[in-house]
Amino acid sequence: MAKRRLGGVQCFYPAPMVLIGAMVEGRANYATVGDCAIMGIRPAVVAISLGEAGFTIRGILEAKAFSINIPTTKQLPLVDYFGSVSGKDVDKSALVESTPGTLPGVPLLDACAVSLECRVIEECVVEHRHIFIAEIAEAHVDERFISETDGRLRMAALRELDPILYTLDNTYHSVGKPIGTGGEEAAKLVA
Ligand SMILES: Cc1cc2nc3c(=O)[nH]c(=O)nc-3n(C[C@H](O)[C@H](O)[C@H](O)COP(=O)(O)O)c2cc1C
Repeated sequence: MAKRRLGGVQCFYPAPMVLIGAMVEGRANYATVGDCAIMGIRPAVVAISLGEAGFTIRGILEAKAFSINIPTTKQLPLVDYFGSVSGKDVDKSALVESTPGTLPGVPLLDACAVSLECRVIEECVVEHRHIFIAEIAEAHVDERFISETDGRLRMAALRELDPILYTLDNTYHSVGKPIGTGGEEAAKLVA
């Protein structure tokens, strides 16, 4: 295998698409975001990276909180649209129903089966991007996607949640078929 250097370019994908919500100028606003990453499972920590020119970021800087709303592939036109227009020019709240979260300044997008309320715990700026590291304060999940086994609540499998993935060739994807189970694959290597 011959590898060539491409320099410091982003080659890390796909990214699951989310809609980041905040209250700005008294209304719910949502931005489509691909730069959203898990920073830890327990405690549940995430990071998002937003350009400073957006509208949603204003509400996050003010409230130090935001929502992560996870759309399904059926909501792709809305996701693409919310990533193409700014709340500075369009009242996005008029296109969707929202419910206030438990944290002040955090709207939840009703149309998404999963909405996570996030409290900012660290922030930093890299050039024109603000990176917010946040803990998940509350997870709101449609009960159709929750099951209970031995008293433990479980989220539905990824395929049922049907999230949108995005690749840097500007293409949206759905999740492909499962290819293995954690632990069982490692066992094949040393069997
Ligand atoms: C597929 C896709 C991914 C995007 N990812 C990000 C991102 O990670 N961070 C960001 O700041 N903007 C991202 N954007 C752009 C914002 O969604 C866009 O600037 C939007 O207009 C912001 O809305 P607002 O000004 O109402 O906050 C993305 C757009 C699309 C279509």
